[in-house]
Amino acid sequence: MKRIFSGAQPTGNIHLGNYLGALRNWVALQHEYESFFCIVNLHAITARQDPKLLAEKTGELARIYIAVGIDPGISTIFVQSDVAAHAELTWVLNCIARMSELERMTQFKDKARKQSENVGVGVFDYPVLMAADILLYQTDLVPVGEDQKQHLELTRDLAIRFNRDYGDTFRVPDAYIPKVGARIMSLSDPAKKMSKSDDDLAGSVMLLDDADNIQRKFKRAVTDSGTEIRFDATRPAITNLLTIFQLLTGQAPDEIESHFAGKGYGQLKQELAEITIEFLRPLREKVESISDKELGTILDQGRQKARGIAQATLETVMARLGISGAKELLVRN
Ligand code: TYM
Repeated sequence: MKRIFSGAQPTGNIHLGNYLGALRNWVALQHEYESFFCIVNLHAITARQDPKLLAEKTGELARIYIAVGIDPGISTIFVQSDVAAHAELTWVLNCIARMSELERMTQFKDKARKQSENVGVGVFDYPVLMAADILLYQTDLVPVGEDQKQHLELTRDLAIRFNRDYGDTFRVPDAYIPKVGARIMSLSDPAKKMSKSDDDLAGSVMLLDDADNIQRKFKRAVTDSGTEIRFDATRPAITNLLTIFQLLTGQAPDEIESHFAGKGYGQLKQELAEITIEFLRPLREKVESISDKELGTILDQGRQKARGIAQATLETVMARLGISGAKELLVRN
């Protein structure tokens, strides 16, 4: 069975963009692939986090994975810091990655611009840790949103370079980026993607938002000039709302356009708010229904399964580098 690996950061609150661009596809793909879904808390600390909140959010995100439909009976759910091999392989990959290729990463450039000369080394190294996550599991496919495409290309480049220099070691993974929903935009600024780190909370619908909040956010959503409701790249705000509508209802674009023919933006926002509220309603209940004990068992099993596979890859890597063989050399001398 081929493998998938993906993850999300337990920072801020997970939103509709994360769900539609990534988690939704994890749920669909888990039946066809052996699946690993990670809560990437080591990535989270590339930005300053409140320790207590980070611990809480790590558990909450694991619960959300399960609540949206990741089945711990068939998929492995685990916390990144539980598997030390992620940090160890990162070091090895750091030694084959080039400054110039990391400097080209657009997410790094965006963050570096905001933080000027105080940008952290972890922010720079973020994509290498991500490559380690993926390569440890000999992953075939990585379902992510559009914003991770460049990181996936780097992962492939690092795998190919290591294989070339030290012998075939890593499977070279492909990105799985959905045709629809790979880049859900902010409700308050359709030029920006919906983002957990956005200070403007009105732009993102969180998966655990209550009905009033969801209603308010869609009501205030920015629209384009004109009145027609149709999918049109030159009208990004309405197209974004229609895309969310399409993914949550499963209706075809022309069906949606004819449904809204002659209707106003207010109607679209109202219907979209209702659909989203109904869609998210069971989620909160499900999240709360998972006991600490149940979650503890799931994460323990996840850690064990993940550790076994990650350790095997890491041992091969160390042997290829001549590192795990060092003991034998000492004995011989
Ligand atoms: P994170 O937590 O920022 O995002 C989780 C997933 O959500 C996708 N996403 C979006 N999709 C559509 N529209 C949006 N507005 C939107 N915003 C976010 C992201 O593309 C991602 O798939 N670096 C990763 C976490 C990670 C990872 C990995 C992923 C660490 N290691 C290994 C895959 C494989 C990230 O951005 O998480």
